[in-house]
Amino acid sequence: MARISKSAAKERIEALSAELNRHNYEYYVLSSPVITDFEFDLKMQELQALEAMYPELALPDSPTQHVGSDLAAPKQEEKRGFEQVTHKYPMLSLGNTYSREEMLAFCNKIEAENGEKLEYSCELKFDGVAICLTYVGGELKQAVTRGDGVKGDNVLENVLTIKSIPRHLKPGNWPREFEIRGEIFMPYAAFETLNKEKEEIGEQPFANPRNAASGSLKLQSSAQVAERGLDCVLYHMLGEELPFSTHSEAIAAASAWGLPTSELSQVRKGAADVVDYIDCWDSRRKALPYATDGVVIKVNDLQLQKRLGFTAKSPRWATAYKFKPEQALTRLNSIDYQVGRTGAITPVANLEPVPLSGTIVKRASLHNKDQMDLLDVRIGDWVYVEKGGEIIPKITGVELSKRPDDAVRPDFPTLCPDCGTPLVRDEDQARHYCPNRTGCPTQTKAAFVHFTSRDAMDILAGDATIDQLYNLNLIRRLSDLYRLTKEQLMQLDGWQERSCDNFLGSLEKSKTVPYARVLYALGIRHIGKTTAKLLAKHFPDIEALEHASAQQLSEIEDIGDIVAASVADYFADPDNLKLIEELKAAGLQFAGGAAQKVSDLLAGKSIVVSGVFSISREEMKSLIEANGGSATGSVSGKTSYLLAGDKPGDAKVKKANSLGIEIIDEQQFYSMIGR
Ligand code: IVH
Repeated sequence: MARISKSAAKERIEALSAELNRHNYEYYVLSSPVITDFEFDLKMQELQALEAMYPELALPDSPTQHVGSDLAAPKQEEKRGFEQVTHKYPMLSLGNTYSREEMLAFCNKIEAENGEKLEYSCELKFDGVAICLTYVGGELKQAVTRGDGVKGDNVLENVLTIKSIPRHLKPGNWPREFEIRGEIFMPYAAFETLNKEKEEIGEQPFANPRNAASGSLKLQSSAQVAERGLDCVLYHMLGEELPFSTHSEAIAAASAWGLPTSELSQVRKGAADVVDYIDCWDSRRKALPYATDGVVIKVNDLQLQKRLGFTAKSPRWATAYKFKPEQALTRLNSIDYQVGRTGAITPVANLEPVPLSGTIVKRASLHNKDQMDLLDVRIGDWVYVEKGGEIIPKITGVELSKRPDDAVRPDFPTLCPDCGTPLVRDEDQARHYCPNRTGCPTQTKAAFVHFTSRDAMDILAGDATIDQLYNLNLIRRLSDLYRLTKEQLMQLDGWQERSCDNFLGSLEKSKTVPYARVLYALGIRHIGKTTAKLLAKHFPDIEALEHASAQQLSEIEDIGDIVAASVADYFADPDNLKLIEELKAAGLQFAGGAAQKVSDLLAGKSIVVSGVFSISREEMKSLIEANGGSATGSVSGKTSYLLAGDKPGDAKVKKANSLGIEIIDEQQFYSMIGR
């Protein structure tokens, strides 16, 4: 880097530090970064170079000296309530490079000081969220996020829902207590399913699998986490006097104890072999079912690792080679404004076709109006397109040096391109919406697609059938489906007697679909399958739910304020109440969600459940209800017992003690219900 004046460096260091700290917050806490990892790394490199030039100017909270923190801001913490735990060994980050020469230099430097052709463990760099698991006596006791590197959030209950992570280790020579760290990630398939469902219930999809994994891990409801399809790979064991001399031996042992490790790691000898591993995975990784963003190289010998030690932020015995996201430069010809299933407007760029990572890209997302303004993009501009972990390519920048004189600033629409209704802006999600939920053709058709889908009413109608029924004016309200006749269906392209009978048969069968699924099928914003089940459990029939206030709804554990408001809004609309009456008249199930009663042993008892049990918390709550009690979310004067499992919430225990509420354990609870 060219030398710059001290005053210019001071200004730049302050600006970069503030900017990088903000990006860290957006990445780790909000799970919603606004710049690419590559752009972040470039800014970090610039700051490192400036701090090396003028060490005295480095700020005390410089992002070069501490890892980004995923600890929630206090306001969000209230709702999430994870216990914070101090890491036994600080949880550091890794140095990184985008250059093969620097990778060679990393190995050469260590080899110059410690002997030639050392062994390195070469591993993929999984793009997820770091996690630290603690096993004591072969049992998973703690699962803590990286946090700020010193302390993190204990997300044990959520981690226990991940199928690949065992609660108990297989028999083996495991140390009584050890830590094993790794990455929790969301495979592409699960990511696509989740985003589809998010779109269907009116929530903004996650931009990439990493954000989805990090957002999911910190959900309040473990039942919801369980449905997210998270996976895990573990890659670093720590403990006092581990009986291994190499890293690869430790990981092989972990695998034998039943822990998930990567089969794609390899021990390579010498720098050239390391670079060969990088070359091999640079292209092969694209065929993997999960996102990776580089390769991690670790000195294999644990003694040598110890000798090399750490800098303030990362180990000296390991580094990451990061793959540069592939970019292409092409012209932006026009912008379409698409209406999504829930009325969200997405600007989509039409590009001059350009090859990128094996496909020809013609369209790319511009996300929302804020992003368009941030990029200051104009029609006619040359733009950079990238395919990151994301499925849909996105525009990441504008090449201003190539801006033509006649480039035109785009006008974000004020009216819905589909139905002409004035758009509204959703401040929370920085998106524009068409509020005409029942009259906008795209949204109406989407409501039918959702209603008929397999997890909802399971009616044999695909997108094309819905389109035709809509265009023939045969369906406008969901209840219209139950009025369709064979004669009307025979008008559909290619439909014969048999297809009509099958369709009508599936309509008839849908009348037996349980209440919880009917609730999900209604397409109430923010109500996914799990929330619908929860609502059906708490409100045994739709009348009870119709009369619940937002306040009452939000008192249910795992129902947040946004969901509560959305449900209350839905039932405040007389047209929705009318629709429900019509569907009831058609014979759909609107009652029957409560657990089967087995006894009245807990009648009148209000029980708060906290901590980890031998069964899931959801099952525990069902047991309470099946025995006549009610399971509530927070400890109050009305609470009869706090049922505490392993590691119950601190705040709940304190509150129960201060109110003199009896705290019972799992065994005591079972004796109460005669189990
Ligand atoms: S080893 C002391 N191995 O990448 C550092 N990290 O950008 C131990 N990561 O913080 C980390 N795959 O969250 C290691 N095979 C792998 C990895 C890996 C992904 C993550 C990890 C780390 C981050 C650094």
